[in-house]
Amino acid sequence: MKHKEFSVAPMMDWTDRHCRYFMRLLSPSAMLYTEMLTAAAIHHGDRDRLLGFDAAEHPIAAQLGGSDPGLMAEAARAAAGFGYDEININVGCPSDRVQSGRFGACLMAEPELVAECFRAMRASQSAPVSVKTRIGIDDQDSEAFLRRFVDTVAAAGCRKFVIHARIAILDGLSPKENRTIPPLNYERVFALKRDYPQLTIVLNGGIETTAQVEDALEHVDGVMIGRQAYQHPYFLAELENRFDPARRLPRRRDIVFDMLPYIENQLAVGEPLNRITRHMLGLFAGRPGARAWRRHISENAHRRNAGVEVLMEALDAVPMAA
Ligand SMILES: Cc1cc2nc3c(=O)[nH]c(=O)nc-3n(C[C@H](O)[C@H](O)[C@H](O)COP(=O)(O)O)c2cc1C
Repeated sequence: MKHKEFSVAPMMDWTDRHCRYFMRLLSPSAMLYTEMLTAAAIHHGDRDRLLGFDAAEHPIAAQLGGSDPGLMAEAARAAAGFGYDEININVGCPSDRVQSGRFGACLMAEPELVAECFRAMRASQSAPVSVKTRIGIDDQDSEAFLRRFVDTVAAAGCRKFVIHARIAILDGLSPKENRTIPPLNYERVFALKRDYPQLTIVLNGGIETTAQVEDALEHVDGVMIGRQAYQHPYFLAELENRFDPARRLPRRRDIVFDMLPYIENQLAVGEPLNRITRHMLGLFAGRPGARAWRRHISENAHRRNAGVEVLMEALDAVPMAA
């Protein structure tokens, strides 16, 4: 396989720092994106809690949401101060809450404003700034609409676009429906790369197999994987191995052992066990013992004073060969 970028998508409530630490053990090279952090939250909130991460998580990108260039610049500078390798602007999220703040996918209709945010964010710090967007919104589902957006933002200096290859319907579909109902259109993204060979174009949406990744990389510079990486995290290890056969496939149970020192440290600072283990439920997905693994953790990790023994007991329920 050609050596190109692959990444794990920003996913609210999913790709928090514990999840990213776990994914990093499965994938030494994937770029990991944070959940979306709003510029307003960073302005008002506890920055250590919002932006803090473990050095093992590199390479890591902070995804920011907002449309006020001043606030976005401040948020980008704060993220850069924490050492993020890339800052990403969310122009793809369709939720109502996000629309009322005028950010997310509705900004596809305002490319000049995104360009202004980009310039301010670039000027405020030195990490590269990328944009994650959709192929269109509502009835704006044409190559011309996508091109106008990309033209305007690229003219401001943006070199990397991650494209979720379906439109967002801003009225009437929930965020979840917006990730399944509008059809995928990879060809639109491949055409974009042909039109803008100088830009880094990353394809996102519906990727579930290494064969799909290989096909996509014939046309674009990278792939971003969301739900499959979360629900079947071992897929990340399989991808690494396909990219670079020298990276041997790890044993799933060794990944659990590798998590233990991190978990012990987190428990010691008062983090409840289940905040970490909830991201590990899919580790044995599709293998014998998967259900027992999930069940033991789900039933026990939330108990007061639960510790790493819960994971050891859960492993006992999984056949050695899994
Ligand atoms: C639970 C969940 C939360 C998400 N949160 C975000 C987010 O914060 N920012 C964003 O740009 N996309 C978000 N997305 C969309 C994903 O980044 C990705 O674009 C989408 O899931 C399509 O990729 P996939 O088919 O590989 O999952 C979220 C998706 C899921 C499933």
